[in-house]
Amino acid sequence: MQNNKMAKLAINNGEKYRKHPFPKHPIIGEEEKKAALDVLNRAELSTFIASPGEYFLGGKKIKEFENLCTEYFKTKYAVALNSGTACLHAAVVACGVQPGDEILVTPYSFTASATCALMNNSVPVFIDIDENNFCIDPKKIEEKITKKTKAIIIVHLFGGPADMDEIMKIAKKHKIKVIEDCAQTPGATYKGKLLGTIGDCGLFSFTESKNVTSGEGGMLITNNEKITDIVRLVRNHGEAVVANQPRQYKSIILGWGYRMTELDAAVGIEQFKKLDMFNKERIKLAEYLANKIEKEIPGIKPCLNNKNGKNVYFILPFKYDEKKIGIPRDLFVKALNAEGIPFGAGYVRPLYLNPIFHENKHFALKHFAEHVNYDKGICPIVEKMHEKEVILTLMCRPPATFKDMDDIVGAMKKIITNKEELLSSQKS
Ligand SMILES: Cc1ncc(COP(=O)(O)O)c(C=O)c1O
Repeated sequence: MQNNKMAKLAINNGEKYRKHPFPKHPIIGEEEKKAALDVLNRAELSTFIASPGEYFLGGKKIKEFENLCTEYFKTKYAVALNSGTACLHAAVVACGVQPGDEILVTPYSFTASATCALMNNSVPVFIDIDENNFCIDPKKIEEKITKKTKAIIIVHLFGGPADMDEIMKIAKKHKIKVIEDCAQTPGATYKGKLLGTIGDCGLFSFTESKNVTSGEGGMLITNNEKITDIVRLVRNHGEAVVANQPRQYKSIILGWGYRMTELDAAVGIEQFKKLDMFNKERIKLAEYLANKIEKEIPGIKPCLNNKNGKNVYFILPFKYDEKKIGIPRDLFVKALNAEGIPFGAGYVRPLYLNPIFHENKHFALKHFAEHVNYDKGICPIVEKMHEKEVILTLMCRPPATFKDMDDIVGAMKKIITNKEELLSSQKS
C-alpha cells in the first residue's frame, strides 16, 4: 500500500488532512520587543555584581521580575535563575540534602526533575505515579522512605496538580522537605492554592515551550529565608553575595553560574504579565478539544485533572484504548503525525530506564545507591502509561483556535475510518 496512488491516509502517501503547520508558539508581542530593546539601549546585559550596592542581587530587570513573582504568588521571596534545571539543583542544595542522601521523585517527568539529585551526588528514588493525574502516587511514598530520605520533588505534570494534601501529610510526618517542580504549571492551583506555594519551595521554567517564556530561565519561590539565601549563593558561584554584607571574595559554598540575564528578565516580565491571559486561552482550547474527543471518538479519553484545582494545560494527555480503536497506539500516532497533527505516544520514557542509571552509571549511583533498584518493572503504572496508554499534544495553546482543534479531531476520525487501509499497509 506504501506507494498506492489510491491511498487515503497520508502515512501511505495520501493527501494530508492538515496541510499547514500549527500556529507558531511562543507569541512575542510589541511589549517583549520594546523591553528587550530598552535593555540593549541601556547596555546593561547582566549587571550582577558581587559587592554591596545597587546591583548586589542582580540588575533592574531581575529585581522587577522577582518582585512580579512575589506579588503574583504572594510569597516572601522569588529568585530568578537561568533555567528550571538550575532552580531544581539550587533547591536540592538549599533544602540541605547532602551527597548520599535520598530524594524521592516521580519517574514521569523531564529528566532534570531526577538528575538534579545526581548533580548534588544524591540518590533519586523513584515512586510510581497515580494514573488519574500522572503525578507521584501518595500511597506509594512511605514504603520508600529511609533514614537517608531528605526531600521529595513533586512534579505537577502536564499543567495540573499532584495530590498535595496527602503528600504534605507524609512529608510533615517524616520531616522531609518538599520541592514543587511547577515547570509545567505556572498559575495552576490545588484547592485554591497556587502551585509552588504549598511545599518548602516551588520552581518554574521559562524555556521556550512553556506557558510563558523568557527564552531560557527559571524562578524559585519560597517563604523560607534560609532557602532564599542559599539559592542566591548557588546562583552566583557560592560567593557571599547576601544582602547588606560587604564583598569578601569568599566562596562559602559550592556555587554555579546560574544568573539570569537582564534580556531574559525583560522578556520574561512581559510574558509573565500575560500568564493568566495565555492560561485562559489554553483552558478554553483544551476543554473544547477534550469535549469534542470525548463525544466523537470512543476509545480516546481526555485526562483533564481539574477536579482539585485549576489545570493550565501545558500538555493535554489522553488515554488510548487500543481494543476500542482497533489500531496499535504507536501506529495511530504515527498516522496522525503524517496527517500533519503533532501528537506524542507516551511522554518521556520512565526516567530510571535512561542509560545514566545503567550503562553510564553516575558517580552517586555507583557509590551510594547499591540498594536502590532502577530496573524495568519497578514502577508498573508509569510503564503502562508510557508504553501503552498515553497519547498527548502540546497544541492546546494560543494562538491556536477552535478550528485547529477541529483539525485534530478530523484527522483522528479520518484514520479510524480508514483503519483497514492502515492495518493492511503495515502487513505488506
Ligand atoms: C517538569 C519539568 N521540570 C524541569 C524542567 C527543566 O526546565 P529548564 O528546561 O528550564 O531547565 C522542565 C522542562 O524544561 C520540565 O518540564
